[in-house]
Amino acid sequence: MSAPNKNYDPVEVTALTAEEVERATQAALTAISSARTLDELKEARIAHAGDRAPLSLARAEIGALPPQARADAGRRVGAAVGRVKDAMAARQDQLERERDEQVLITERVDVTLPYDRQPAGARHPVSMIADKLSDVFVAMGYEVAEGPEVEAEWYNFDALNIPPDHPAREMQDTLFIAPPEGAPAGTRSGMVLRTHTSPVQVRSMLTRPLPLYVVSPGRAYRNEALDATHLPVFYQIEGLAVDEGLTMADLRGAIQAFVDALFGAGLRTRLRPDYFPFTEPSADVSMECHVCRGESAKPGAEPCRVCRSQGWIEIAGCGMVNPRVLVACGIDPDRYSGFAFGLGIERALMLSHGINEIRDTYDGDVRFSRAFGTEI
Ligand code: PHE
Repeated sequence: MSAPNKNYDPVEVTALTAEEVERATQAALTAISSARTLDELKEARIAHAGDRAPLSLARAEIGALPPQARADAGRRVGAAVGRVKDAMAARQDQLERERDEQVLITERVDVTLPYDRQPAGARHPVSMIADKLSDVFVAMGYEVAEGPEVEAEWYNFDALNIPPDHPAREMQDTLFIAPPEGAPAGTRSGMVLRTHTSPVQVRSMLTRPLPLYVVSPGRAYRNEALDATHLPVFYQIEGLAVDEGLTMADLRGAIQAFVDALFGAGLRTRLRPDYFPFTEPSADVSMECHVCRGESAKPGAEPCRVCRSQGWIEIAGCGMVNPRVLVACGIDPDRYSGFAFGLGIERALMLSHGINEIRDTYDGDVRFSRAFGTEI
C-alpha cells in the first residue's frame, strides 16, 4: 500500500492552518489596538508585520505547498496580512491625529499674554532734533563737521579772535583742563572743555577746501550752576559758510531755513545787532513767537507765557565771519567772506515742544523720550 498522498494536505505546514493564521492575526490586531503611542505601534509592526512576524514566516512557507493548498493558504494568509495592514494604517492615522492634537494643546502660545518688556532704549529727543537740523543743512549742500570736546584753547578762543585777556574767556565760564601731574608750578595745559561748537569752524577752515559749507552739532561745556534754564553740559549746533561774495542776505536765508525746519514755514525772523568776537557784524536772531504769533505784544492782547508777551523769541547768535578769524585760518579775507550762526539745541527743543525745565532733557528718564512719540 502506498503511503497516503499528502501532497494536498495543507495541515502539513502548521503555521498555515486556518486556526494558526487566525491566531496570529488576532495577536496582531490586539497588539495594534493596544498600542498607545506611535512608538508602541512601531514595535507592534515589527513584531506582527515585520520579516520575522508569524504571518510573514507563514507566508514564506506557502511556496512549499502543492498547488491547490497553495492557493487556499495564499488567500487565507493574504486576507490576514491585509487585515493587519489596514488595522495598522487606521491605528497609525488615529495616533498621529492624537499626537497632533496634543501638540496643539501643549505648544499653544497665548499671544495676548503681556510679557516682561525690557525697553530697548530710544533715540534721545536732543539727538533727534540735532539730526533734523543737520539734515536741513545737508539737504542744502552743507557737510557735517565734528571736533573734539577737549579742545586746545587756541581753537576755542585765540583763533576765534578771543585773546587771552579777553573778558569772553571769563564770560563763558570756561572749564579748564588741569596740567599733567608733576608739571612745574604755574604750567597750564592749554586745554579746555570747549565752551561752544565754534572751534569746529576753525578746524573746518584749516582742513577743508573752499568754498566751505559745514554744520556742526555737538556738546559744549560751561561752568554753570544747574537750574531750570542752564546746564553745564549742553548741545549746540553751528553753521558756517565761507565762499566768494557771501553777504548777510545769505545768512538771513540760512537762518530762515532752520526756523522753518524747526517750527514749520511762516514764522518771521529778525536780526538785531549783537557782539561776538568772531563775527563782525554780529547779530542775535529772534523769531516770531510760534505760540502767539506776535499777537501778545499788541496793546490789550492776551499775555503769552512763551515769549513773555514780547512777540519775539531769541534763538541764536550769528554774524559775518570776522576777517581776523579768516586770516587766522589762512583764508584771504579780500577774496572770501563767510557767515556763521550757532544755537543751543536744548533751548530749541524746549521752545518747539513747550518744555519749561531744561533738566528734563538730560535726566535720561525714558518717559521724557516717550512723550516725544519715540519708539522704545
Ligand atoms: N558761539 C556762540 C555762543 O556760543 C554762538 C555763535 C556761533 C555766534 C556762531 C555767532 C556765530 O554763544
